[in-house]
Amino acid sequence: MSNARAVASTYLEWAKLHSAAKYNLATSGIMSYPLAELHVAPQDLEINGPTVYGYAPLQERLARKCGVTQDCVVAAAGTAMANHLAMAALLEPGDDVLIEQPTYGPVLEVASYLGANILRFERRPDHDFQIDPGDIARRITPNTRLICLTNLHNPSGALTSEETLTRIGEIAQRSGAHVLVDEVYLDMVYDQPMRSSFHLGTNFIVTTSLTKAYGLSGLRCGWILAQPDLAKRMWRLNDLFGASPVHPGELLSVVALDQLAKINARARTLLDTNRKALDALFSGRSDLDGFRSPWGTVTFPCLKSGSVDEFCDFLRARYETSVVPGRFFEMPDHFRIGIGGDPAMTAEALKRLAAALDAWGVARS
Ligand SMILES: Cc1ncc(COP(=O)(O)O)c(C=O)c1O
Repeated sequence: MSNARAVASTYLEWAKLHSAAKYNLATSGIMSYPLAELHVAPQDLEINGPTVYGYAPLQERLARKCGVTQDCVVAAAGTAMANHLAMAALLEPGDDVLIEQPTYGPVLEVASYLGANILRFERRPDHDFQIDPGDIARRITPNTRLICLTNLHNPSGALTSEETLTRIGEIAQRSGAHVLVDEVYLDMVYDQPMRSSFHLGTNFIVTTSLTKAYGLSGLRCGWILAQPDLAKRMWRLNDLFGASPVHPGELLSVVALDQLAKINARARTLLDTNRKALDALFSGRSDLDGFRSPWGTVTFPCLKSGSVDEFCDFLRARYETSVVPGRFFEMPDHFRIGIGGDPAMTAEALKRLAAALDAWGVARS
C-alpha cells in the first residue's frame, strides 16, 4: 500500500464492479436469505421509530446474543461501518496501528484514511496463517494504539484460539493499546462455537454483523462491542457519519435475530455441502498449495505456477468463473475461493475451476 492517505477501497471497487460471474466463487458470505422466509407482514414494519442511540428492542437482542450488557453495544451499518467507527474512535493521525498481513483491504484503507501509521505483523501461509504473538510483541511500539485482526481470518479462514488472543491482549495492555477483532465470520465455527474475544479483556473491541454467516447483508445489521465509555464515544462519533439508521432495517433485524437459529441451520447445511465439493476439488491436486480451514466460507490457496492475475482472467474468459485475485490481499501468488453460494452453482463453479487448473497446467508443461 502506498504512503498516500487512502480515499477509496481498491478491493471493494473491484468486488462491486468486476467480481460477478455466472459461476461466482468471489463472494465471502452465505448466499442471500430470502425476505419471504422471514414471514414479515407489512404491519410489522414502520418508516420512523423511537431510535436515539440505538433502538431498544435491537439493542436488547444484540446484547443477549453476545452475552454483554446493552451499554457495550454500538449499532453500526454493517461491519464496514463498525470497523470505521471503532478505528476512528481510537486512532489519531500519526498513531501507530498494528495490522495483520494479509488482511481484508478496507481495514488497511480506513486506518490509512484516518492518518494512522500502519505497522504489520505476518500471518504466514506456511504457518497456516496462524498469528505468532511473539511477532506482535516484537513489532508493537509505545505509540501503538490499536492491533487489528480478523477472526476467522479473511482471506484464509484460519481460526485464532482464545489462548493466542489472550496473549495478544496482554501484549497490547502493556503498551496501553486496544485489540480490534473483526468477528464477522466467527459464527460459522459451528462444531465448537466460539466466545467472542470481547470477553477476554477490557481492551478488546469486537466488530461484526449478520452479513456473512447468515446471508443478511442487505440489513446492514452490524455492531461493535466496546467498554461503555468507549461505546458512548462511538455513538457520538457516529453522529458525524450516518447519525441515524434506517428504521425498517432495525425492525427487520429484530425479526431476523428472533429467527437466527433457523437461519443459522440453513447456512450450516449449505456450507457442509459446499465444503465437500471444495475438498473434492483439492484432493489429488498438486498445482494448489496451502492451508484449508474447516470453518467459514473462504480459502486462500497458492497457485504454484504462472501468474494468478492471468489465471483469473483465463478462468473468467473460458470458464465464466470468478475468484478473488490475491493481489487484493497483498499476496499476488494466491487467490481466494468463496464457498458460501448456492450449492448447485458452487459445485459447477468448482468443477470449472478444476478444469481451468488442468488446462493451465497443460499449457505450462
Ligand atoms: C473481514 C471483513 N470485515 C468486514 C466486512 C464487511 O462486512 P459488512 O457487510 O458487515 O459490512 C467484510 C466483507 O467482506 C469482511 O470480510
